[in-house]
Amino acid sequence: MSTKLSSLDIRLRVASPGLIALPWLEPLGEWDATEVPLRDIPVGPSRHLVRFVETDGNLWALKELPQRIAAKEYAVLRELETRALPAVRPGGLVMQPHEDSAILVTRYLERSWQYRRLFMRIPPDRPKHRERLLDAMAGLLVDLHRNGVFWGDCSLANTLFSRDGQVLQAWLVDAETSEIHPKLSNGQRQYDIDILVENVAGGMIDVAVRLGAPTSDYDALIAEAESVATRYHALWEALHAEPTFTFDDRYQIDGQIRQLHQLGFAVEEVSLRQAGDDEDRRLRLKVAVAARRYHATQLHELTGLDVGEGQARILLDDLRAYQCHLQKWLGIPVTDQIAAARWLEEVFRPGMAAAHKAVGGLGDPVQGYCDLLEVRWLLSEQAGTDVGDGPALEALGRRVVPAQSAAEMAIVEAATDQLPALTRELLDELEEA
Ligand SMILES: Nc1ncnc2c1ncn2[C@@H]1O[C@H](COP(=O)(O)OP(=O)(O)OP(=O)(O)O)[C@@H](O)[C@H]1O
Ligand SMILES: [Mg+2]
Repeated sequence: MSTKLSSLDIRLRVASPGLIALPWLEPLGEWDATEVPLRDIPVGPSRHLVRFVETDGNLWALKELPQRIAAKEYAVLRELETRALPAVRPGGLVMQPHEDSAILVTRYLERSWQYRRLFMRIPPDRPKHRERLLDAMAGLLVDLHRNGVFWGDCSLANTLFSRDGQVLQAWLVDAETSEIHPKLSNGQRQYDIDILVENVAGGMIDVAVRLGAPTSDYDALIAEAESVATRYHALWEALHAEPTFTFDDRYQIDGQIRQLHQLGFAVEEVSLRQAGDDEDRRLRLKVAVAARRYHATQLHELTGLDVGEGQARILLDDLRAYQCHLQKWLGIPVTDQIAAARWLEEVFRPGMAAAHKAVGGLGDPVQGYCDLLEVRWLLSEQAGTDVGDGPALEALGRRVVPAQSAAEMAIVEAATDQLPALTRELLDELEEA
């Protein structure tokens, strides 16, 4: 081991005067909150010191770690950014002059939360929310693996979650152990899945212990963790299946393509090749898919909105329904462009403002509008007739939305002092009211 002191080396990817001015010569733990704009944000247990700084209107996460690991993590995060994968974005890397110390700077992931927040604030009798979280983890690992990224330490604590329409989006936050290969072998993927299952089980039991759950619950938690592997394999299989068809049945590939679109994947190339030897005239289908932004790209092209895939799916449905309504009302065909422009002005913007106001300005306004649509739809289904926006806005405002709806997760977004945790007592009270 070298004992040589390295020289200060500051690399920042934004020329932010506030970032440059930070006391980079001092160990992160000694930065003085009266002199540095530190923000107190609780993080779960972590090996390295993580602190948050707000400068020039941006919030940054700073992590102190050995130089070699920091350089590796920075390189991986830059590559994940290039490939538009869901991970925290690297802001810089600072090699400090004291022995083997570096600070990795990442952009704070806005409106995201750790799994603890969901598990601690929503009671265990809400299995759908837990499933959303497990699906998100499986989806993230599939996205990484498709891009040759071996995570190496996939755990609930190394993942952040954000709301995306009716689902959750998971983000990689810790890439210390990650490696990028041209392609992963089945063995490498399986190894990563095994790590995930073990870590997720540990994370769930950790929360159960804090909540005082009986040890008899643990088996169910381990089964839940194992279900992430099942979810992963189902998604991987859907993306990599190579079914065969006879030439006359080739129209069936349409169903395959639609399934991929439903999962959010745009198709890049479809190939149909003879499956076997001359005798066997069956065709094998191979589909190359792009990133999971099928609906998001369509919505962006029509409206310029840049939202998550889960949100885009809901908004596109709303736009299409509006287009049908407009055509009936006007009695003439309405182009996609005209429908999109009118929907933005007449439906989406006012609806988003109303929904955001109803929830006291908390959370993402676009998500607020998605919640409004969901609650309106569920309440209308219960009532057997369209209830309109009024009752849905009121339900959102009072947080008495249908149980297990995605909108119920809004409770997790608010800071603890802004909204009470969704305890059993509170739920009973709300239901009585
Ligand atoms: N860019 C970011 N945005 C939001 N939160 C962040 C960010 N970076 C780190 N965090 C928070 O800090 C926590 C610790 O970060 P990280 O996992 O990278 O540290 P670590 O000490 O290396 O962890 P480990 O113990 O797994 O090695 C994360 O779980 C997350 O809650
Ligand atoms: Mg970590």
